Amino acid sequence: MTDTGSDLTPPPGCPAHQGSVPLAGLEYQQSPAQLYRSLRREHGTVAPVLLDGDVPAWLVLGYTEVSYVTSHDELFARDSRRWNQWPAIPQDWPLLPFVGYQPSVLFTEGEEHRRRAGVITQALEGIDQFELARDCQIIADRLIASFVGSGQAELMSSYAHALPMRAAVQMCGMPHEGTDTQQLVDDLRISLDAAEGDDPVAAYTRVGERIQQLVKEKRDRPGPDVTSRMLLDPAGLTDEEIVQDLISVIAAAQQPTANWIGNTLRLLLTDERFALNVSGGRLSVGEALNEVLWLDTPTQNFIGRWAVRDTQLGGRQIRAGDCLVLGLAAANTDPQIWPEQHVGAENSAHLSFSNGEHRCPYPAPLLADVIARTAVETLLERLPDLVLAVEPEELTWRPSIWMRGLTALPAQFTPVVQ
Ligand code: HEM
Repeated sequence: MTDTGSDLTPPPGCPAHQGSVPLAGLEYQQSPAQLYRSLRREHGTVAPVLLDGDVPAWLVLGYTEVSYVTSHDELFARDSRRWNQWPAIPQDWPLLPFVGYQPSVLFTEGEEHRRRAGVITQALEGIDQFELARDCQIIADRLIASFVGSGQAELMSSYAHALPMRAAVQMCGMPHEGTDTQQLVDDLRISLDAAEGDDPVAAYTRVGERIQQLVKEKRDRPGPDVTSRMLLDPAGLTDEEIVQDLISVIAAAQQPTANWIGNTLRLLLTDERFALNVSGGRLSVGEALNEVLWLDTPTQNFIGRWAVRDTQLGGRQIRAGDCLVLGLAAANTDPQIWPEQHVGAENSAHLSFSNGEHRCPYPAPLLADVIARTAVETLLERLPDLVLAVEPEELTWRPSIWMRGLTALPAQFTPVVQ
C-alpha cells in the first residue's frame, strides 16, 4: 500500500491503494509522449496517481475514457466541493487555486452552468475576428518594437505571454496599454504564474478590484466589448457573477494561448519541415499550430472532474467524490486512435479544448486561433531571419505536469533601427 502522507487512511478501492504514481516529479521527464505511453502500459487507460502532498486521484489517459468522462457530467461533475479528500488538504496546498471551489462558471453545473456559459458564449460571439486580428497585430508590433533594436529577445516573457494577456484585457473593454492596464496585466501574471518573491494573493485581490471597477464603468457606459455584452445579456447575471466569470475568461484565455504561441514558435524554429517554410518551404503556420495541439498541447492535464456516485471507468472502481484528472495530452496520443503508431495532425479531433458541457466554450478556440496565428505570423514577418539563440536541446520545459510550455525561448535576429 502507498503511504498517503496524510492522517486520512484511504478506503479500499481508492487510488492510493493501487501502486499509485506520484504526479509531482514526473514533470521533469521532458518527453510527455513517452511518459504517458509508459503510464498507459503499466496502468491501463485510468491510472491511480498521487497529486502534490500524496493526495490520491485518477489520471484518465484514454481518448475514449476522456471523451466519456467529459460527456457524462451527471456522473463526473465540476463542483469540487464533493471531493472526498478535503479533510486531507492543507490550507497552503499548491493546487488549491485550481481546485478550490469558486462561484464562477468553472464550478457551476447543470442549468446554472448553461446560463453562465451561455452568457460568455454570446459575449465572445460578438467579437469580430478581423478586428481581433487587427488588434493583435497592433499589440504584436508594439511588443516587437520594444526589442527589435537589440537583435535578441526572450520570446516567452516579452512576446508569447504578453500578447494574449493584452488581447484578453482589450476584448473585455480596457485599452491594451497605459499605466492602469499595465498594473492589471502585471497582477494577472503574478496571480496566474507567480515568480519567486511575488505575492499572488495580493495580486489576485487587486485583479478582483480592478475588474469590479471595470464592470461598474461598463454598467454606466456600455461599449462594444465582452464585459458590456455580458452585462446586457437577458440572463441578467449579477455584477459579482460577471466579475467572477470575466476573471475566469481572462485566466482561461491567457496561459493556454501563451503556451500555444510559444510551443508553435519552438516547432517552427527547431523542426526542419517548418524551418524550410519560414523562408518559403512546405508547411504552414496553420499546420504548426495544429500539430502543437496534437503533440505538445498547452493544457496537457486538467483538474478536473469529481465522481457524483460510485461507478466504473476503464476497469477501475471509482468512488463517489473521487477526483479525476483529464489527461488531454495522453488522450491525443492514445495508440487506440493512432493504431499505426504514427501520430499526425491531419484533422482537429484532438481533445486539447476538452469536450462536453464544460469544454472551452465556442467560439473561444476560434478566437485563440486568431490570437495565436496573428502572434506567430506577425513575428515571422517582421523578423524574417529569426533563429534560436541556443541549441534546440538547451530549451527547457516548465516543471509542470499541468501546463506544457517553455521556461524561456531565447532568439536572435538582425537588429532593426527604428
Ligand atoms: C481566447 C482564448 C480563450 C478563451 C476566452 C477561453 C475560455 C475558456 C473558458 C471560459 C473556459 C471555462 C469553460 C467552462 O467551465 O464552462 C475554458 C475552458 C477550457 N479551455 Fe479555454 N479559452 C481560451 C483558449 C484556450 C486554449 C488556447 C486552450 C488549449 C489549447 C484552451 C483549453 C481549455 C480547456 C482544456 C478547458 C477546460 C474544459 C473542461 O473543464 O473540460 N482554451 N476556456
